[in-house]
Amino acid sequence: MRSSNAYRITASAALCFAPWLANAYTINCDNVVVQKKEFNLGALDNQYSLYTIDQHPPTVDNTTFAINFCRPLNKREDINAKEDCPGGSRVCAITNETNTVDHTSLIRETIPIAGEYSHTQGGSLDPKWTRLKTSSATADKGREGLRLEMHGGMYKETHGSKTRKKKQKAIIEFICERTPDEKRRKRDELLRIKDKDENEDQDDGDDDEVGDDSGERIDDGHGGTLTFISFEDEEEFTTLRLEWKTKYACEDSKDSRESSKSGHWGWFTWFIIM
Ligand SMILES: *[C@@H]1O[C@H](CO)[C@@H](O)[C@H](O)[C@H]1NC(C)=O
Ligand SMILES: *[C@@H]1O[C@H](CO)[C@@H](O)[C@H](O)[C@H]1NC(C)=O
Repeated sequence: MRSSNAYRITASAALCFAPWLANAYTINCDNVVVQKKEFNLGALDNQYSLYTIDQHPPTVDNTTFAINFCRPLNKREDINAKEDCPGGSRVCAITNETNTVDHTSLIRETIPIAGEYSHTQGGSLDPKWTRLKTSSATADKGREGLRLEMHGGMYKETHGSKTRKKKQKAIIEFICERTPDEKRRKRDELLRIKDKDENEDQDDGDDDEVGDDSGERIDDGHGGTLTFISFEDEEEFTTLRLEWKTKYACEDSKDSRESSKSGHWGWFTWFIIM
């Protein structure tokens, strides 16, 4: 008797705490804790957009990927509400198809990729973090940063009598890149110019650089860059892969202020002793 009562109490207590538990499955950007290591990604709490262009004459597709891994996206004002991303989206793609002959355009696809959606619309964000330094994956060996996998998106397409439902997800790799100081930047610049001169005649076009103009790579406004990698079917998911080079993914970034302060004091003490 007693034990079954105890069981009932435990069960109802667990139910009471269920919303709390659910909370642990959202993202707290200011304090991301992955395997006991804390990261502060709060500076990246902004809405970013990348876009890719696909030409298939006479139409051109401009697919815009809106991203804010910290909170749901704002509604777009230049778009019909029904064509916009559903509420709760954190990563979402909208394809604007333009006909270059008659200069008309339409929103052809709105794909919710990741977010907190109602059951009928998709699923839950269910964020999964991986600390690259301690990851067992071979591909992560020697890398420093974090990988974030976000879920929830579902895209339903109907072709004639066939309906295809495809689960979506977004994977962002935050790669540690310490902001180069002025000196290093200048040195890199010089090296690049020298490199360019040397390779002038064997230059067959650097595809990497095209990204800057096409919208596939942007400055994040905090010394880092966000780059589109791919958006394609990977097993049962259509997966958007992004790479974010940022100092906030460095393992020492959260306590760097303290260490620079102590460095300063060290210097000061030394100065006084002299
Ligand atoms: C693609 O769409 C975005 C807005 O979503 C716009 O800022 C960008 O200029 C467009 N790119 C081209 C090449 O039309
Ligand atoms: C779609 O692209 C066309 C051509 O660039 C542009 O005029 C139109 O405003 C775009 N529509 C939206 C909703 O972004």
